[in-house]
Amino acid sequence: TGNAVGVDIGGTKIAAGVVDHRGEIIAQTRRETPALHPAAIADAVADAVAELETTHAFATVGVAAAGFVDAARRSVVFAPNLAWRDEPLADHLESRVGRPVVVENDANAAAWAEYRFGGGLDEHGNAVDDLVMLTLGTGLGGGIVSGGLLQRGANGAAAELGHVRAVPGGRTCGCGNSGCWEQYVSGNALVRDARDLLRSGDPVGAVLLREVGGDPEAVTGPVVTRLAQAGDPGCARLLADVGRWLGEAVASFVAVLDPEVVVIGGGVSSAGDLLLAPARVSLAENLSGRSHRKPPPLRTARRGNDAGIIGAADLARV
Ligand code: BGC
Ligand code: NA
Ligand code: ZN
Repeated sequence: TGNAVGVDIGGTKIAAGVVDHRGEIIAQTRRETPALHPAAIADAVADAVAELETTHAFATVGVAAAGFVDAARRSVVFAPNLAWRDEPLADHLESRVGRPVVVENDANAAAWAEYRFGGGLDEHGNAVDDLVMLTLGTGLGGGIVSGGLLQRGANGAAAELGHVRAVPGGRTCGCGNSGCWEQYVSGNALVRDARDLLRSGDPVGAVLLREVGGDPEAVTGPVVTRLAQAGDPGCARLLADVGRWLGEAVASFVAVLDPEVVVIGGGVSSAGDLLLAPARVSLAENLSGRSHRKPPPLRTARRGNDAGIIGAADLARV
């Protein structure tokens, strides 16, 4: 049929879909991510695939995982924000879903989807061959398509852009370092900044504080985005702060990779220009050689939060 299933395993949810050869999702389902136990994650994935199997035919399963994936695309070596340590995900899943399973890093998969079917098109609809993808979710994911090829590195762990150091001596990161971009540019960073704002008693946080019933711990990224979109200046400021960090991060990655377009995905990207307008300003202000070159366009992912599913399915097909 040319169909493949893509499964995106993130820090909070597992999303699975049947994807056709044009990159369209023709059926979809979700599960919560069971945070503590890898076996429970495999159970949830197998369950989601079994549900899709009742209505659709497909030959392979691609899994987009939020962690460092091995060169063979079978195991998750390490996940800064999940319980995987040398987790043989493909081995565990193949027997249960009865089909070949390919594992890819979630942001790599998203970058591939945008390159093939989404944001990796120029204004005339022609494919661009050099694209950088950043996904702002629980963590900060990175994906690089260079010269039309997905860059996986020697061990499969290339493009861990969230773990490039931004701030020497900065915030502790789940990867074992400190000061990584992920600690300043992600959904977790947004939530942490929001909680800090509420605890500081700054009146600009008043609307958000009321919305979460006076409990800073109850803040989530979507709440901040919703209030910002409704015009709350406190929440808009929180998104703009993350956006400025994002622009600085992109400027550094542009110095290395010189992409034609930079695509921004993950849950936080649903804030749109509340995030991207400040990011474009700080990208322009931090671009190396800026008086002699133009920054690449910053775009939200055309496939939105579906990019991981679509990319994983497409990578499993080839
Ligand atoms: C992980 C990446 C992942 C990203 C987004 C980071 O913390 O190191 O492997 O792509 O989060 O999920
Ligand atoms: Na990556
Ligand atoms: Zn890190």
